[in-house]
Amino acid sequence: MQIRQFLDRPTATLSYLLACPESGRAIMIDPVDDDLALYLGVLDEMKWQLDNILETHLHADHVSAAGKLRRATGAMIACGDAKIETADHLLREGEQIVAGTLQLKVITTPGHTPSCLSYQCGDRLFTGDCLLIGDCGNLSDAGADAGRLYDSITRKLLRFSDETLLYPGHEQQGRQVSCIGDERRNNPLFCGVSRDEFIARIALRPCTIPPHSAEIIAINRRCGLPYSQSTPPSLS
Ligand SMILES: [Fe+2]
Repeated sequence: MQIRQFLDRPTATLSYLLACPESGRAIMIDPVDDDLALYLGVLDEMKWQLDNILETHLHADHVSAAGKLRRATGAMIACGDAKIETADHLLREGEQIVAGTLQLKVITTPGHTPSCLSYQCGDRLFTGDCLLIGDCGNLSDAGADAGRLYDSITRKLLRFSDETLLYPGHEQQGRQVSCIGDERRNNPLFCGVSRDEFIARIALRPCTIPPHSAEIIAINRRCGLPYSQSTPPSLS
């Protein structure tokens, strides 16, 4: 697998472009609107054909580039949240997304939002805002649930092997990649912490709501496009 990781500095968002080395078929995860030209440049330079655009969740901190990328490349948009009204496909637990020899498996990891997804591709996990490096996603969303987030992380993600690489949805203190062994041994929110203790700790954390989140969510329900440019709902 070929992989490119992109950092959107203003929001510390990490996005990913994965490609099959044999066929050049590619998959994008969590594209950011401000970085659209960069993605198109890489696709062009590498001669990759984008087949799928995946959202890990309905983002509140940055505008998605999914709709514009679909228009530029013909790729399909898939996600786990029916609130993203103009996506092409609603993903379910265990579903496979294929592009050339690339195979991504869908893992439902609710908590940060009710419909968060993580994606497994071989020995790599793309966890969005569920499991972060030494941390977890915030719980400022109206549907956020600390208990479900704890269950998603401890029962699903931290059960992968030590060597499994963790590619999160945000940079943390300059770190952009970790591994499951490191998180199981060192993540202070989960290492030796019970579910009840986690819920109590999270309740004490300051609730930071991203600026303009209501407007950003409204745009991201249309895959990052204004009303006039969004396509009709076609969830399957
Ligand atoms: Fe998020």
